[in-house]
Amino acid sequence: MDKEKKILYSGMQATGTLTLGNYLGALKNWVKINDEYECFYGVMDLHSLTVRQNPSEFRKNARALYALYVAAGLDPEKNCIYYQSHVPAHAQLGWVLDCFTYMGELNRMTQFKDKASKHADNINAGLYTYPVLMAADILLYQADVVPVGVDQRQHLEICRDIAERFNNIYGEVFTIPEAYYGKTGAKVMSLADPARKMSKSDENQNATILLLDDRDTIVRKFKRAVTDSDACVRFDEEEKPGISNLMGIYGSVTGKTMEEIEREFDGRGYGDFKLAVGEAVADELEPLQKRYQELMADKSYIEKCIKANDEKAAYAANKTLRKVYKKVGLTEMIR
Ligand code: TRP
Repeated sequence: MDKEKKILYSGMQATGTLTLGNYLGALKNWVKINDEYECFYGVMDLHSLTVRQNPSEFRKNARALYALYVAAGLDPEKNCIYYQSHVPAHAQLGWVLDCFTYMGELNRMTQFKDKASKHADNINAGLYTYPVLMAADILLYQADVVPVGVDQRQHLEICRDIAERFNNIYGEVFTIPEAYYGKTGAKVMSLADPARKMSKSDENQNATILLLDDRDTIVRKFKRAVTDSDACVRFDEEEKPGISNLMGIYGSVTGKTMEEIEREFDGRGYGDFKLAVGEAVADELEPLQKRYQELMADKSYIEKCIKANDEKAAYAANKTLRKVYKKVGLTEMIR
């Protein structure tokens, strides 16, 4: 392991397929910065259990997510890409940290309140202690930085609080992680309602671009995107949220600035603009999709990567877990 580099930790839940929002908001940035850090990326399948999953679909999604990480450009021979559930230390440290987290703190988590209201028939304890498991994920690897979206900011804060509390009692056991918000931080909004985030659970299929949508579907969805009646491609998130969202997407895939885009489409209609955005997105996703198909067809390669990285992750995680067990005074195992 390269000790010169700082450690980066992140992951996504293994539910459903990824959207363009997940890609531009997270995955693409991970790829951009992954050379600068020693990186761990988890397929967060234990977190997904906090809502009911269909077992066979869940298993497929988790495999697809792994392949998408790789297809998007994360190199499984340089980065550690692994399944959270394959490394028991996550659950083990999660338990210990449960005992260092106050209910009062968890009661303040806005995502818990939000999810509890959406899944009123299944407000389980896992949903409640979700942030503690997430803290365990991060702290096990002694991560310095954690790229997360704004919706995870509060979870990262509680992770830091738990780590500091633990360190205050037992000495410097955990590295205190910093949040990393990408420079572009592209927040991709729904194509049907630009006031809402693009989400895979949106009921309106035209609202969301899925990473595995084919070219025709992508172009068609962009054609239908909600805009305004002003017929001018100008960046103004307040007055023109639909157009601004499309501009953000276009800028994020082409690297063009908002001014450049305004100039490019000066005097041209929304039809032209939407088509250009659709095609640019399809062009961007095409190599990723091709690589994804290849990976899914070659099980032996992916399986080799999973095995090697599970071991690598477990090695790093167990080192921290052993230290924690010892610090809190659990009796050592006799070997
Ligand atoms: N809660 C994160 C999400 O839904 C996923 C996640 C779990 C995570 N553990 C993590 C992200 C650790 C970063 C670090 O997006």
